[in-house]
Amino acid sequence: MKIPTNTDRLTIGECNLSDKGREAIDQWNCTVRTALELFIMINGREFTNTTFLAWLNENSTTLAIEFEKHPTKGATGGSGRPNSMKNLMSPKARSIMQTIAQNLSEGGSSASDPLVATLDSGDMKSNNTKIRRLLPSKENYLTHQNTRLLRDLELGEMLTSIERGITTQVDVTKVGRGAFNTKGSSWLNAVVRKFITSASLNSAIDPFAGQGDMLRLCEAEFHMSTSGLDIQDQLGWPINDSLVSIPKSTDSICITNPPYLANYSAKRKSMWPMVGSYYENTGRGDLYEIALDKCLEAFDYVVAIIPETFLHSNYPKDRCAIVSILEKNPFEDTTFPVCVTCWVPQTKQNPVIYVGEREVMTYSAMVGIKGDVSRSKRIVFNDPEGNIGLKAVDSSKADDRISFMQGKDFDYPRSSIKVSSRLMTYLNIPELTTEKDIRSFCERANTILESYRERSEDIILSGFKGNNKKGKRRRRLDYRLARKIILEALGESVQTTLPLE
Ligand SMILES: C[S@@+](CC[C@H](N)C(=O)[O-])C[C@H]1O[C@@H](n2cnc3c(N)ncnc32)[C@H](O)[C@@H]1O
Repeated sequence: MKIPTNTDRLTIGECNLSDKGREAIDQWNCTVRTALELFIMINGREFTNTTFLAWLNENSTTLAIEFEKHPTKGATGGSGRPNSMKNLMSPKARSIMQTIAQNLSEGGSSASDPLVATLDSGDMKSNNTKIRRLLPSKENYLTHQNTRLLRDLELGEMLTSIERGITTQVDVTKVGRGAFNTKGSSWLNAVVRKFITSASLNSAIDPFAGQGDMLRLCEAEFHMSTSGLDIQDQLGWPINDSLVSIPKSTDSICITNPPYLANYSAKRKSMWPMVGSYYENTGRGDLYEIALDKCLEAFDYVVAIIPETFLHSNYPKDRCAIVSILEKNPFEDTTFPVCVTCWVPQTKQNPVIYVGEREVMTYSAMVGIKGDVSRSKRIVFNDPEGNIGLKAVDSSKADDRISFMQGKDFDYPRSSIKVSSRLMTYLNIPELTTEKDIRSFCERANTILESYRERSEDIILSGFKGNNKKGKRRRRLDYRLARKIILEALGESVQTTLPLE
């Protein structure tokens, strides 16, 4: 076998995909290389690019199912899955897989750790018909990986290291039932209290009642009669699957903290057999959204503690009158950033957003500040060679905040940058050519960012993993808003008002 040159190596997995292709692969939490490994496991060690690409196209549906089922480890086999698995694949997933297949036809480039080499065969018409062979040095690796990947994961078993085959078992009840109980009374601040009083209803129902702490507080504070429902039988409430339906009761106020679980987390944590059916045909991406749908169908007035990400989600807010962001954690066993939302029967609401009891602005004002900005060729995000460093998340030290800095001063390893990097990254702004340009750009961008933070009391940024050491919520800058700030710092005029949903 000849030692390959850079140009005739097939280095899929690290080859030059188009941006669209890379984005698509990234959504599966897998690489093209994972797909190639799978292909070799099934079809043998020798092949041509053309046969690999044809296989990928032919099997895109099955692969999509497999990647969906085992999102962190890639696919495990090309056939033999029952047809019912197809139900797990959303139209979005199917289109992503098709995009992957379509975008794979670009040529490969040299990779640092190639998987295959070209066989020195006499009949070579083009790069695509050259026979490739799995490198002998990779044979053991692939056999080993093959065996490990072919094992199905148990309920709640999460693969934490593909390389070392390490899995962690999550608490199935906590994760699948979202069983994090609300403790104490921090959620019942003056704003929420006023809302509950103004609803003038004498009874409260929690359709996801858990240990019933929210209901007990309502009894004590408002002298309401209360009742609850839950799916778990040992809690003593009538059993009801409230993610499927809740008995209608317009003369009671719904007071709840439903389960939260994003569908991608449910898949990553192998919880799909337990909760997957809830998401089907709802168009919702998180259990709390499905719970809200059911609560709003059954009740006129609803108070629900839900993730703060709701504010930046596209969940309809037309019945939502109030959002109060809780800085004090109302749970004893998680530090998930949450808010209390208050809902009324009348539509066309423009929720007033509070941080605790302090009024900040309306939802439409927040959307206006966030503005609308389309992709720009002037900026390349997640470029390991980029001239600007972006720390997109507050650290737990209060003075170490989100900031733009010269790439050369950012101590984050450039080799760690992936297409999926969202917290620490490098970006490239080619028009900034001198150190002086870069430095003054960073100063302008940081000033703009800080003024947005001040004007919005931080609510335009997403909450991130609890609070800093001074008790203030940590925040993350999403790349859409980052792009707006960058373009403003570059002097481009950017639309700052968006219509309400
Ligand atoms: C986050 S806990 C909250 C409990 C309570 N509302 C509180 O705030 O302390 C969610 C509760 O919802 C229940 N639950 C989860 N899925 C459910 C379902 N499909 N139908 C009814 N209850 C469910 C869980 O058993 C758990 O007790």
